[in-house]
Amino acid sequence: MFVGNNIQLTPIQRSFLPAITKWIYDPNIFLNTFFRDPFPLTLEQLEEWFQNLGRDPNSRVFALQTLKDNHFIGEVALREIDWKNRSAQYAILIGESEYRGKGYGIETTKLVLEYAFSELALHRIEARVLDDNYRAARCFENSNFRKEGTLYESVWRKSKWYNIIVYSILASQWNKGIELQASV
Ligand SMILES: CC(C)(COP(=O)(O)OP(=O)(O)OC[C@H]1O[C@@H](n2cnc3c(N)ncnc32)[C@H](O)[C@@H]1OP(=O)(O)O)[C@@H](O)C(=O)NCCC(=O)NCCS
Repeated sequence: MFVGNNIQLTPIQRSFLPAITKWIYDPNIFLNTFFRDPFPLTLEQLEEWFQNLGRDPNSRVFALQTLKDNHFIGEVALREIDWKNRSAQYAILIGESEYRGKGYGIETTKLVLEYAFSELALHRIEARVLDDNYRAARCFENSNFRKEGTLYESVWRKSKWYNIIVYSILASQWNKGIELQASV
């Protein structure tokens, strides 16, 4: 479940924090990933975030490491887990640019959905994407998410308003994907 063909989901380690600090300065990342104030975090602030990771019962954060050489390439999270209504927000970030566009986003998303639905028994996973983030949109669409709607002009960035596209996938749709794969 935590291991795919090329990628594995592993715990975030303290030694990964400098790489995360570096990614936060990458405009491809902070413009697409942090919809609030993109002011970069210091290593000390990230250390505090790291200390609190295991203490939040309503989030699950994993490191993405390559299977071949354990290279730390990104981070993935289920956040705002609502245990009563069995839903969560999904976020993915491949920080190392040379690892983007190689199918790792889709592979990772499938692993996270398997964990969310078959282990945590969640019912609904939601993802939010800036409307010009075509790669993220394709990643979610190829992982059986469906487009649910548009939050018009909900992000102010670089002196411009951006729309957010909301994607979601239900456990039943994910199961259907599994059945389809099995019957091919
Ligand atoms: C978004 C992200 C997770 C996608 O993962 P990825 O490994 O790069 O993407 P994949 O290789 O799995 O490809 C996903 C789809 O995007 C397509 N794609 C790849 N590069 C693209 C580009 N520059 N423009 C448009 N589509 C692109 C791929 O062809 C694929 O679609 P297809 O299978 O229909 O051909 C990753 O690029 C990333 O972390 N980007 C920076 C942070 C970010 O935007 N996070 C998402 C916030 S919601």
